[in-house]
Amino acid sequence: MRIVIAGGHGQIALRLEHLLTARGDEVAGIIRKPEQAGDLLASGTEPVVCDLESASLEDVVKHLEGADAAVFAAGAGPGSGAARKETVDHRSAVLFADAAERAGARRFLIISSMGASHEPPPDTDPVFAAYLRAKAAADDDIRARDGLDWTVLRPGRLTNDPGTGRVKLAEHTGRGEITRDDVAAVLAALLDEPRTAGRTLELINGDTPVAEAVAAVAAERG
Ligand SMILES: NC(=O)c1ccc[n+]([C@@H]2O[C@H](COP(=O)([O-])OP(=O)(O)OC[C@H]3O[C@@H](n4cnc5c(N)ncnc54)[C@H](OP(=O)(O)O)[C@@H]3O)[C@@H](O)[C@H]2O)c1
Repeated sequence: MRIVIAGGHGQIALRLEHLLTARGDEVAGIIRKPEQAGDLLASGTEPVVCDLESASLEDVVKHLEGADAAVFAAGAGPGSGAARKETVDHRSAVLFADAAERAGARRFLIISSMGASHEPPPDTDPVFAAYLRAKAAADDDIRARDGLDWTVLRPGRLTNDPGTGRVKLAEHTGRGEITRDDVAAVLAALLDEPRTAGRTLELINGDTPVAEAVAAVAAERG
């Protein structure tokens, strides 16, 4: 399978690239800083330099041609303000989905966030509220598409603890933390399970091995 990952130098993306190349997938990662290319090459991932906040649809389509699947793992990041939540977490995700649809890369995963399912409470920090609204807007756009076999993944608070290989994956998990290692493992498993298309899933660390958790969600659709 050929998989293109947006935000290819992100902390989850780098982990996912290692998992996918190790199992024999062909992987490309979209980065905006050429100096990050070496970190992708280290896992056998093809670096593709493209800034999703300034790229045209045609540019991004070109990078997705021949791909079977696309993963949106980009984000404006912790140091950014509300404007970049909109241009990256919302607009770049929509651009990437438009391009995937145009290129025929039907399987589409997006890393959203727990909390994007509802309007943030009034006392929420304004930048965090903008972030959650941007994630929600991207998710709504993607979930309305028939031209993609999409899955929206909403992890709880991310940590860099070592992965446990055990998770809780469901429409509603309750709040919790999840390691980036385990998010990457779940994304890799979701790519292989088309019956998780059309689902919006929350993810926290839990007791169920990743493969079993993904199989259980897939089985709900029969
Ligand atoms: N932190 C949490 O607790 C939490 C919880 C749930 C979900 N999430 C979401 O999970 C996702 C992945 O998390 P993570 O920790 O792996 O993120 P990360 O390390 O911050 O990676 C995000 C990547 O997006 C890239 N990016 C930003 N703007 C871009 C642009 N214009 N074009 C192309 N790439 C661009 C960044 O590249 P540069 O190096 O060039 O900036 C970076 O490599 C994010 O969307 C995050 O919001 C986070």
